[in-house]
Amino acid sequence: MTMDEQNLRNEIVTFGAMLYERRLAHGAAGNLSVRLADGSILVTPTNSSLGALDAARISKVSPEGALLAGDPPSKEAFFHLAVYEVRPTAAAVVHLHSTHSVAVSCLCHQDTSDVLPPLTAYHVMRVGKLPLVPYFRPGDRRLAEAVREAARSHHAMLLANHGPVVAGKSLRDAVYACEELEQTAKLFFLIGDRPSSPLTCEAVAEINTVFPN
Ligand code: 13P
Repeated sequence: MTMDEQNLRNEIVTFGAMLYERRLAHGAAGNLSVRLADGSILVTPTNSSLGALDAARISKVSPEGALLAGDPPSKEAFFHLAVYEVRPTAAAVVHLHSTHSVAVSCLCHQDTSDVLPPLTAYHVMRVGKLPLVPYFRPGDRRLAEAVREAARSHHAMLLANHGPVVAGKSLRDAVYACEELEQTAKLFFLIGDRPSSPLTCEAVAEINTVFPN
C-alpha cells in the first residue's frame, strides 16, 4: 500500500470520528469516500459507524464498483462512483443523515433546483446551489443515476427524505461544506416564518467571483 493510500485511510477515520462526535452522524448512517490516483476509491464499509472506523478494513472499490480490498462497501458506493465519474476535480464525497439537512429534504419544495436560501456568505462559498434529488431507496441504482445527473452541474445536493451528498477537492473540503450545509439548514428552521433577508443576487455574484468553487 502506498503512503498516500495509508494517509487517506487515516483521514477517513479522523473525519468520520469528528462528524460522529459533532453529532452529524449517528448509528451506521452516512458514508465517506476518497479517490485514489489509479481511479479506484476508498469508501466506508456498509453498516459501519463513522465514529468507529478501522483504517485497515475500509473498502477499496474499482471505478466499476468491484470490491478490491477490505470489508463489503457502503451500499451507496455506486452514487459515490457516479459523482467521481462526472466531476473530474472531485477527490472526496461525503454523504450524511445530518438532522437539519434531512429535515429540509423532507419539506415540500416548489422549486427543487435550490432548496435553501443564500442566508450567509459561507453557505454560498461552500455549498452554493443545492438541488433536491428525487427519492429512491438507499442503494437503488436509480439513486446513483439521479445523483450522477445532479453532480454534472452541482458539487452539493440533497437527496429527498434522505440527506446531503457533497463532493470536494479534498475530504476536508467536502466535510466542511457538509457542516456548512447543516448549519444553514439549522438557521433556516431557527428563522422559521419570520421575515428574513437572504443575500442579494449581487452579493451572491460577488462571493462567487472572489471565491470561485
Ligand atoms: P451504508 O451503511 O451501506 O454505508 O449505508 C448508510 C447510509 O447512509 C445509506 O444512505
